Amino acid sequence: MKGTGDRFQHETKYEPGRMPGHQLIWETKPDLYKEYPEALKVELPSFEPSRTMSLDQALKQRKSVREFQPKSISKGQLSYLLWASTGIQRVEEGYAFRTAPSAGALYPIETYVVANNVRTLEAGLYHYSIRTHQLEQLQSGDLRRQIAAAALGQGMCATASAVFVWSAVFERCKWKYGQRAYRYIYLDAGHIAENLALAAVSLNLGSCAIGALYDGQANTIVGVDGVEESVVCMAVVGVPLL
Ligand SMILES: Cc1cc2nc3c(=O)[nH]c(=O)nc-3n(C[C@H](O)[C@H](O)[C@H](O)COP(=O)(O)O)c2cc1C
Repeated sequence: MKGTGDRFQHETKYEPGRMPGHQLIWETKPDLYKEYPEALKVELPSFEPSRTMSLDQALKQRKSVREFQPKSISKGQLSYLLWASTGIQRVEEGYAFRTAPSAGALYPIETYVVANNVRTLEAGLYHYSIRTHQLEQLQSGDLRRQIAAAALGQGMCATASAVFVWSAVFERCKWKYGQRAYRYIYLDAGHIAENLALAAVSLNLGSCAIGALYDGQANTIVGVDGVEESVVCMAVVGVPLL
C-alpha cells in the first residue's frame, strides 16, 4: 500500500545531480528561541546528578517505564532533565550549541512540560526557555486528565511526575532544507527524547516516549496552531514502581 509517506520519502531524496539549488536568505532566518515575555519566570536550580552513572550502565538500564510511584521529582531533577535533553552546552564563535545534535544547528524543537508532581513547582503547563534555562509558566492547575486524553488515554501521563511535550517550529528547519526538513525535524526530536531517557535513568527515574497522541488535542494543551508549530512527540518521567 502506497501513500503520503512513500511519496514524501521519494520526493525528498537527495541524489547526485538532482540536488536543490536553494540560496539561503539570511535576513529571513527564523529565530531559534521561542520566548513568552509575559509569562511568569521560574528559575531552575543548577543540578548535578548525585551519583555518577557510566554511559554503559545507563544504556543497559534504559527501558520504557510506564508505571510510577505517586512521588514527586525535585525541581533540580527537572532542571537536569531539561538541560540534558536540549539545554545549551557550549558557545562557539557566539553560536550556542545544545546537548542534542540538530541538522544545521537550527534547533526546530520546542519543549513544554506538564508538571503533575514536581516539588516546589505549581502544577501546570510550562515552556522551557532554552536561552535562559528558565521555565515560563503558561497555565496553572491539574492537567493530568487532559494530557492523558491527548495521548489516546494512556494513563501513564496522569501518574508520571512530569510529561515532556515536544513541538516543532517547522520553518526553522524548512528555511534551509525545504520539504526535506521534515526528515530532520523528527530525527532531532528523537535525539532529544533519547537524551531525556538516558538522563532519567542516570537519576534513577523512569521514562517512556509517546508517539501515540491526538495531534489536535496535544496542540491545544500547549497552545500551538498545528501548522507553524505542532507537537511531534512526548515523554513521561517519574519514579518507577518497584
Ligand atoms: C517514537 C516512539 C513512540 C513511542 N510511543 C509510545 C506510546 O505511545 N506508548 C507507549 O507505551 N510506548 C511508546 N513507545 C515506547 C516503545 O513501545 C518502546 O520503546 C519499545 O517497546 C521498546 O521497549 P524499551 O523502550 O523498553 O526498550 C514509543 C517509542 C518510540 C521511540
